[in-house]
Amino acid sequence: MRSAWSVQDVGDQSGRTVLVTGANSGLGLELTRTLVSRGAHVVLACRDVAKGEAAASAVGRGAGSTEVARVDLSSLDSVAELANTLRDRPIDVLVNNAGIMGVPPRRSVDGHELHWATNVLGPFALTAALLPQVRDRVVWVSSQMHRIGRIDLADPDREHRRYERWTAYGTSKLADLMLGYELARRLVLAGSPARSYAAHPGYAITHLQRHTALALPAPGEWLLQRVRVAQDAAGGARPLLHAATAADLPTGSYVGPSGPGELTGAPRVVGSSAASRDREVQRRLWQRCEQMTGVSAGLAD
Ligand SMILES: NC(=O)c1ccc[n+]([C@@H]2O[C@H](COP(=O)([O-])OP(=O)(O)OC[C@H]3O[C@@H](n4cnc5c(N)ncnc54)[C@H](OP(=O)(O)O)[C@@H]3O)[C@@H](O)[C@H]2O)c1
Repeated sequence: MRSAWSVQDVGDQSGRTVLVTGANSGLGLELTRTLVSRGAHVVLACRDVAKGEAAASAVGRGAGSTEVARVDLSSLDSVAELANTLRDRPIDVLVNNAGIMGVPPRRSVDGHELHWATNVLGPFALTAALLPQVRDRVVWVSSQMHRIGRIDLADPDREHRRYERWTAYGTSKLADLMLGYELARRLVLAGSPARSYAAHPGYAITHLQRHTALALPAPGEWLLQRVRVAQDAAGGARPLLHAATAADLPTGSYVGPSGPGELTGAPRVVGSSAASRDREVQRRLWQRCEQMTGVSAGLAD
């Protein structure tokens, strides 16, 4: 039997450029660390350039190299600026990793609900703008929380519903997963060699929980890792790394941890909710994102 995929299976990344959003913290930082150690050039796209520079120094040069670029994914102008800065440069892999979770009701500078703006519209606009430059693949970062999400295309900004932070987060992660599936389908239809994947880390202790009521004191974090309910950031980054680098993964795959409840463990292709596999909602979600961002990837459905 083939043994489980491990970080040692990541091949030589020399000559490849990988754009990682939110690369200064948690999963993005660990992903960057491994990719640079294997020779990739990683563009750390961060909202705070000083944090990006600190992360780039912490990662070191390894066999590869780094550069820092600024982006606030909750602002469509900022996303357009990043896309403009990178115009015409080949990008092998785009990892839509940055995200927020469980924030109180807040609006972005463009007036959108903040999870929807940061986790969905920003990554969509970035992907659509950079797609002609993407030579290999796009990776969308979802979550087991996609299972509590519900897409309401008539009210994506939650103006006509009571705001509930966890459903708002789960819905944004459901949208990421569905955009990953939809992009895979549209790329195949277009005859493009580029691929689209989604991945989730299970439960990884990072800064994500530290802004929320889920924040635990250090001994609690330690205990969860000991009993394998949670893993560290490097463990959580493995499914993302697998989706970003595996050569033999069918396009449209969703990768997550293989342990109980998909919380921890080596990466493997996993299933997703029935709602996430609704083709018609995937198609309409893509159109709605084009309409809300004013950015089109020019891919027919
Ligand atoms: N950790 C888990 O258990 C878990 C589970 C399921 C899914 N995920 C997903 O994994 C991804 C990474 O999360 P993480 O756990 O590594 O959390 P993290 O340590 O909090 O990292 C999140 C990153 O996103 C960046 N970010 C947040 N808002 C941004 C914005 N408006 N513009 C640009 N960058 C922004 C953060 O920048 P700052 O440092 O400046 O805040 C940070 O670099 C997220 O998409 C999350 O939904 C995580």
